[in-house]
Amino acid sequence: MLKNTLLIDALHGKEVPRVPVWLMRQAGRTLQEYRQLREEAGSFISMVKNPHYASDATLQPVDILGVDAAILFSDILVIPEAMGLPYEMEEKKGPFFPQTIKTANDINKLNVAGENEYGYVTEAVRMTLKKLNGRVPLIGFSGAPWTLFAYMVEGKGSKTFSSAKKFLFTEPALADKLLEKITRSCIQYLKDQVKAGVHAVQIFDSWAGVLGPNHYQNRILPFMKMLVDELKNDIPIIVFAKDGHHSLNRLAELRPHGLGLDWTIDPLAARKTAGKNITLQGNLDPCVLYSSLEVIEAETKQMLEAFGKHRYICNLGHGVYPDVESEKIKHFVKVVKEYQIKKHLAF
Ligand code: CP3
Repeated sequence: MLKNTLLIDALHGKEVPRVPVWLMRQAGRTLQEYRQLREEAGSFISMVKNPHYASDATLQPVDILGVDAAILFSDILVIPEAMGLPYEMEEKKGPFFPQTIKTANDINKLNVAGENEYGYVTEAVRMTLKKLNGRVPLIGFSGAPWTLFAYMVEGKGSKTFSSAKKFLFTEPALADKLLEKITRSCIQYLKDQVKAGVHAVQIFDSWAGVLGPNHYQNRILPFMKMLVDELKNDIPIIVFAKDGHHSLNRLAELRPHGLGLDWTIDPLAARKTAGKNITLQGNLDPCVLYSSLEVIEAETKQMLEAFGKHRYICNLGHGVYPDVESEKIKHFVKVVKEYQIKKHLAF
């Protein structure tokens, strides 16, 4: 059924004729076609909730950029909302929760999310698969327990997430209860995406880096383990813990199929830490895409050489920034697709 199996083969450790490439946040404001669609839909959240718009936005980067995978157009904050904590998206400011989690009662009132609350996402998966018609695999996703906890307690983005950390440190039993409820919601959510037909899933722990190794490993990894264990026999999984390379070895021990890397870790160091039996994904600094086409090409080639062809998926180290010119992104994708890796430094 799938015509392009590069990403799935790379995740299973199979030999591939060339490295697959996609970009985190490939659907979004960098594309003029996306901005048009959002205007038509009225807002970001109405796009997410309408499977027609969500599936169209998912396909745009496949058509326009030529990437080797589609990632469902949605948001990690679908889960807090499905649990009973709605969010708003403020232009240029990001997410905002009118209510946040503060007490045991707030946690008791939350549901474990189910299909009834997020049926629009599974419907978007089915519609997207029809429109894709097997051209490339479709990646489903969820936020990781810690990152969702961070938003639900803090109520918005933050440099430090000090309210969320305060809750984690001062109310450990309540924090565990919340983390468990979120984890159970994520498991159900990802299993429903798998049932709807996604070919792989990525777990985004965008705020792993606000915790140190001790707290991340002792307080958060047990929940990540629950999540990965419940899914890894059903579907290839990629875990992306941004700024979490203090715990890369421990994340590798969870045995997901792939680990996403941000740009602050050297490819060879990452390979050494994660071992040979895992696929690495990343990790070009998204700001490199502000450079000239020549610099983008040189930096991309250097990265490809360092990771090597085996068990590697080319991506950025985080989402593409909204003001990057789409011509630069197209060039990045083209360089990866045309490049023949000569050396295999990583093995
Ligand atoms: O193309 C894709 O990657 C698929 C769609 C996708 C979006 N958000 C669309 C989006 C995915 C996978 C996400 C995940 C997501 N959402 C994460 C994890 C990845 C990461 O960036 O670390 C996080 C932390 C969020 C929460 C979130 N959503 C924030 C902080 C913001 C605001 C930042 C911004 O760029 O404005 C969003 C909004 C958002 N999610 C947009 C898009 C396309 C921009 C909304 C718009 O159209 O104005």
